Formats: sequence, structure tokens, C-alpha cells
Amino acid sequence: MKIGVFDSGIGGLTVVKSLLEHALFEEIIYFGDTARVPYGIKDKNTIIRYAIEAVEFFKNFEIDLIIVACNTVSAYALDEMRESSACPVIGVVEAGILATVNALTNKNSNILILGTKATVNSKAYENGLKERGYNNLESKATGLFVPLVEEEIYSGKVLEATLEHYFKDVQKPDAIILGCTHFPLISQEIENYFSKKSIIIHSGDAIVEYLENEFEFTQKYENPTLKFFASENPDALKAVAAKWLSL
Ligand code: DGL
Repeated sequence: MKIGVFDSGIGGLTVVKSLLEHALFEEIIYFGDTARVPYGIKDKNTIIRYAIEAVEFFKNFEIDLIIVACNTVSAYALDEMRESSACPVIGVVEAGILATVNALTNKNSNILILGTKATVNSKAYENGLKERGYNNLESKATGLFVPLVEEEIYSGKVLEATLEHYFKDVQKPDAIILGCTHFPLISQEIENYFSKKSIIIHSGDAIVEYLENEFEFTQKYENPTLKFFASENPDALKAVAAKWLSL
């Protein structure tokens, strides 16, 4: 399979990392809309318009599947992307919900959902989990983590102050959904803040679990072809990819 991975920017590389660890695909074409990131503060119509443009971009390649690594796009634009795409489109939100259900047998578990403002406002995770009987949910828009990660601030005083700002009144969660591409990079710090061993739902691992359930993978691709595209400054994206993915 040759696939496209779409994100609003560089954050979706955390999903590519999980895909690479499982060696599922022969070729991965990554597109980050770096000229227009962040999507998480934009409105629904804008997010849908940008997402459809990403589908158009992938039409330049003969791909078999589009994986939407961006939680914000997955929350708002999957139906519209599917309508304009010739190949299947799957997103991390549905995968994250299923991973949460698989990880938490106790439906009274206290689940903290983190995401951008748009993802939290969409209630995509909340509604999906409520439908499956989970009602002990707290959602928190923690968009400031996005620029921190972009600035490669993964620890230290600024991050500590931001954690305190967002979480000071939040009860210790049994599970934390990292509903944003950037949050896996500060996953340990988020977990440590609550001084509790919470189950962490990571979009990359969730999408791998989802793919392995949905498709039959008969072969491993240890050295897949990787191509990186960005709507602005592709060299910067490639530099981050080289670092995060140890290429
Ligand atoms: N990729 C976005 C997400 O996962 C985070 C960055 C943005 O706001 O565009 O929701």
C-alpha cells in the first residue's frame, strides 16, 4: 500500500513515527499544511475547505489510502474528504475512540480528553465515547501546547506553568486522550503532572491498532519510501522529520 498522511503542519509526524515502527506501508507521502497551521483555532468551514484541498493535493499521486493525522481535521472534515476522494480516508479520532474503548473496560473510568479548541468544541471524542457508555469525561482545550512543541519546548518552566494553567482544577484521570498530533511529544510531562499512572491514548498507536483491525497486512516494509511535502518551507518540515523520525 502507498498512502498519504495529512496534517495541518509538522505534528502529524508523530503519527508517521508509529506507522514506521510497525512497518505497515511501502510508501508514505506526507503533506503538512505548514503555511496555514494552526487549524485548531479555525472554524469548521475553513477546516473543511483546507482538508478538501489536501485531498486534491494527494490526487497527484496514486495512493491507496489517506490517513488524517490531524485530530482537528478528523473531527470536522472526514465526510467531506471522503466525498472528494477516490481512495478511503481514515482519521485519528475514530481510531482514538476505539483504542480508548479497547483499553478501558470500566465504563466509569474518568477520561480526560485533550485537544485544540476546535477539536474540543466539535465534541467528536465526547460524543463517540458517550455513545459507547462512557460518561465520566472531561474535555480540555490545551492549544498552547501546540506552539510549545513547535518551539521544541518539551520540559522546563514554561511547560510547567502551562500544565498548571490548564490542569490545576482537573481531577486525576484514569485515561488521557492525547487528541492532538503535538501532545505525544510532551506525553510524559502531562502524565507526571497528575502523579498518577494514567492510560495514555496516542493517535499514532490508535491508528495502527485501527489499521491492523481493518486491513490485512501480509508484509512488513522496514525501509519504506518517504516523501515529505509542505505548503510552506518544506525544508523545515524535512529537518523536523529527520530529527523526530531519526532518518
Ligand atoms: N494537527 C492539529 C491537531 O491534531 C494540531 C495543530 C493545529 O492546530 O493545526 O489537532
